[in-house]
Amino acid sequence: MSAYPKIVVTPPGPKARELVKKDESLISPSYVRFYPLVVESGKGCIVKDVDGNEYIDFNSGVACLNVGHNHPKVVAAIKSQCDRFLHYSNTDFYYREVVSLAEELSQITPGTFEKKVFFSNSGTEAVEAAVKLAKWHTRKQLFLGFIGAFHGRTIGSLSFTASKPTQRRYFFPLMPGVTHVPYPYCYRCPFKLTYPDCHYWCVDFIDEFVLQKYVPAEDVAAIVFEPIQGEGGYVVPPPEYFQRLKKLADKYNLLLVDDEVQAGMGRTGKWFAIEHWNVEPDILCIAKALASGLPLGATVAKAKLMDWVGGSHASTFGGNPVSCVAGNAVIEVVNEEKLLENATRQGGYIVKRFEEAKEKSEIIGDVRGKGLMIGVEMVEDKESKKPASEKASEIMRRSWRRGAVVVTCGASTLCITRELVDSALDIIIDCVKEVEKEA
Ligand SMILES: Cc1ncc(COP(=O)(O)O)c(C=O)c1O
Repeated sequence: MSAYPKIVVTPPGPKARELVKKDESLISPSYVRFYPLVVESGKGCIVKDVDGNEYIDFNSGVACLNVGHNHPKVVAAIKSQCDRFLHYSNTDFYYREVVSLAEELSQITPGTFEKKVFFSNSGTEAVEAAVKLAKWHTRKQLFLGFIGAFHGRTIGSLSFTASKPTQRRYFFPLMPGVTHVPYPYCYRCPFKLTYPDCHYWCVDFIDEFVLQKYVPAEDVAAIVFEPIQGEGGYVVPPPEYFQRLKKLADKYNLLLVDDEVQAGMGRTGKWFAIEHWNVEPDILCIAKALASGLPLGATVAKAKLMDWVGGSHASTFGGNPVSCVAGNAVIEVVNEEKLLENATRQGGYIVKRFEEAKEKSEIIGDVRGKGLMIGVEMVEDKESKKPASEKASEIMRRSWRRGAVVVTCGASTLCITRELVDSALDIIIDCVKEVEKEA
């Protein structure tokens, strides 16, 4: 039996309620808050709230804490850097911390070709840099993106984001020139076809109905994609999808921009999710788990593409030395503790347990994922596949109150143990049963 979770007061407790009230009066209401979890501290796979409750963390700081909360190696690297210097704008001067992380990133990203790295502070900035670089290098203005995508919320990346109308409402005009095409969401195929009988019509459609009909291919700089859609519902493309997309890109000389902000840094059991499809992108975006929660974004490109000149793109804080040493420590920890292997092992077990639960449930429609990037799609019934978003939210809130924190798409820290997985899954699957029974 696991010692966790430990619920000492039904959440949200009094201290959490007080803080939330204050937050509501001071903080922008545009943030997305899942439930009133008010964090006091974290260690490994456990997060503690201000009222003393200790939860098994299946949120991983929203996919940022792949090596767990406050990994001692990461904390030691940060402390030691803090004693040396906190900032000295990599945009204008030099320091070894960025070079050292760039060296590591060019080793762990797919492709043995020479690479160069642009450092920023976040996922959206990593995508902005990729888009600007693609424009600069190709001198072309058009892009293809995907319906259901999430690439960030600044105007450039928002032009590619297409998973919820709220993200875009009232913000038009966005960056012109982005055409969205259907993502290979086999459980709900936009073409109402079935894999594998569809013969990847979703790729041929881009060729025959988009590039040959109304988006002039010679003006398209790149295809921007997530290897597994995150915010869009943890949608995993079928086995040959990206090989075929690459063939299409090669046919028309388009760059492939792979947004690994959520799926990267080991989350799927490989350093980068696109490796599951054995494709080497031209430009790759990283953030979230890169520096274990410290702000850091990286845009890694084939060296020959990074031909822009001084002043064409830069960032005062991008590549902050404290964040960079945290990034190097994260890579070391993932390697030393064999966390890629653990993600594959524990993820396989989680999928198996949800598959078993699905057999006995009418509201678990689909279980999918790679490594520890796992989504469980809730439906009103398996026949209609009508999305059951309210039920999913209720399961999420109940699981939290009982000590397993999870958002509607699950992703734990890569260092999660079988014991904690079992404890959390017992709670979550129990909550599914309860909600199903009450319907
Ligand atoms: C795939 C993907 N790209 C980009 C972003 C934006 O990252 P940030 O919130 O750091 O700007 C996210 C955030 O969830 C993401 O999941």
